[in-house]
Amino acid sequence: PNLFGDSRKNSRGWDLAHKPELVAIDKARNPHLSATFVSKPLISGVLEKSKLLPVLNPSDPTDTVGTVQQATAADVATALSAATPWKADASERAEILCRVADLYEENFGKLFALLSREAGKIQLDVVGELREAVDFLRFYAAESLKQNASSAGLFTCISPWNFPLAIFTGQISAALAAGNGVLAKPAEQTPLIAVAAVALFHEAGVPRKVLQLLPGDGPTVGAALTSDPRISGVAFTGSTETAQIIRRAMAANMEPSATLIAETGGLNAMIVDSTALPEQAVQSIVESAFQSAGQRCSALRCLYVQEDIAPHFTKMLFGAMDELAIGNPWEHATDVGPVIDAEAKADIDAYVSKARAEGRVMKELKSPVEGFFVAPVAIHVNSIAEMEREIFGPVLHITTFKSHEIDDVVAAINATGYGLTFGLHTRIDDRVQHIVERLHAGNIYVNRNQIGAVVGSQPFGGEGLSGTGPKAGGPHYLPRFCKSKTKEVTE
Ligand code: NAD
Ligand code: ALA
Repeated sequence: PNLFGDSRKNSRGWDLAHKPELVAIDKARNPHLSATFVSKPLISGVLEKSKLLPVLNPSDPTDTVGTVQQATAADVATALSAATPWKADASERAEILCRVADLYEENFGKLFALLSREAGKIQLDVVGELREAVDFLRFYAAESLKQNASSAGLFTCISPWNFPLAIFTGQISAALAAGNGVLAKPAEQTPLIAVAAVALFHEAGVPRKVLQLLPGDGPTVGAALTSDPRISGVAFTGSTETAQIIRRAMAANMEPSATLIAETGGLNAMIVDSTALPEQAVQSIVESAFQSAGQRCSALRCLYVQEDIAPHFTKMLFGAMDELAIGNPWEHATDVGPVIDAEAKADIDAYVSKARAEGRVMKELKSPVEGFFVAPVAIHVNSIAEMEREIFGPVLHITTFKSHEIDDVVAAINATGYGLTFGLHTRIDDRVQHIVERLHAGNIYVNRNQIGAVVGSQPFGGEGLSGTGPKAGGPHYLPRFCKSKTKEVTE
């Protein structure tokens, strides 16, 4: 019998073009619009008292979504002493993880509200994120049975705020599917979604000692969880800088066999040549650079347009940018919501102001004054080599190239050292082959956008400064959470 029925199918999600589904979404999320959520460490043991911090809505910071009690060093110690691998047999673990997936779908209204209110996500992104989270649960459950995955260790899972449900769930579900115990630390900005999610894991039957949640800051809680010799592996997603700090802490404090899975940032490029379909390329660029307010590791950062078509093409692109609706992520029509917090806004605004002063801003939209909004902007660069770091917001850099320079463009993209996503718009098959063979990127997309990898069909992850691999949502991910044993018995 097929234990998971159609579990290898991706989650159906919610159809935002279908009025009855929109009505259902409203009905399910509305009770959570003005609720106040509370986040506390979910550990097996007695919590130390610590002060409560407010969690603000990035599109309306006067809306306090809830409070978070951050874990202390003593709470981390309590959690570590209680932590245990998941000793249930593989089929029971898989069954429980599929039950979590069902609970995510049943509780979509609350999760929908939190993703929007706490993380500032627009409706399209919320649906995508919920689907991805559900897919990870079912995919790793099914893979664990297929691969006979087993381990008996403890994993630390550290996640970013930009996919506070999907990446958070992906890391945890893979570690659990393989039989590990998990200590999870969500990003500082999104502890409420994490608590809601972990409560559903516990409700489905994951024991509290097996999955513990420690909301808290990176330098205290994150650092303690990545430098304890009882931990056998760390699954981390976040910035390249933090991954490097974690690697050093692990090398200094843990066994050499401890695993680090780090999925990090990118300086992602796209090439549009003169044979591209302009309408298709423009739509791909707008989605890749500005959807999720550019807060995806996969987002397009640097566009190379062939010089011959650049004047006409950029005019079309800027016309399409004019159509973007920026504002409240609750609204169905909104295309671009806020960035995550005041610090992110200040950083991106300062970067754009400098480019403005240098006369490099090619196109700029207007954003609401209240809330942490940054208007989509296009900035001229001569080459990707001028971009020193990942700007994590709706900022697109544009440059041009001549047809005979294509290998130099590929070399410049490779020279950044990152290698996450890459987009190519061309109708020349040989060129696709030529570039794909030479370009260093984990996910290459041709004649489409370069965001939104689908679990099970587009395993996601980069190389170089973009991460260690293996790719999330692919068959090689789970084995990294496992230990393999060779047994030979002779009679
Ligand atoms: P970040 O590195 O600042 O934080 C990520 C997590 O690490 C947070 O939970 C944080 O508290 C924790 N942390 C910080 N310092 C730590 C320390 N010393 N020890 C242990 N943990 C520590 O990143 P962010 O700003 O939250 O997320 C955005 C970044 O994540 C971007 O660079 C983006 O490209 C990257 N990202 C990558 C992927 C991918 O799959 N490759 C996916 C999403 C986001
Ligand atoms: N997996 C996410 C994407 O592909 C980050 O956009």
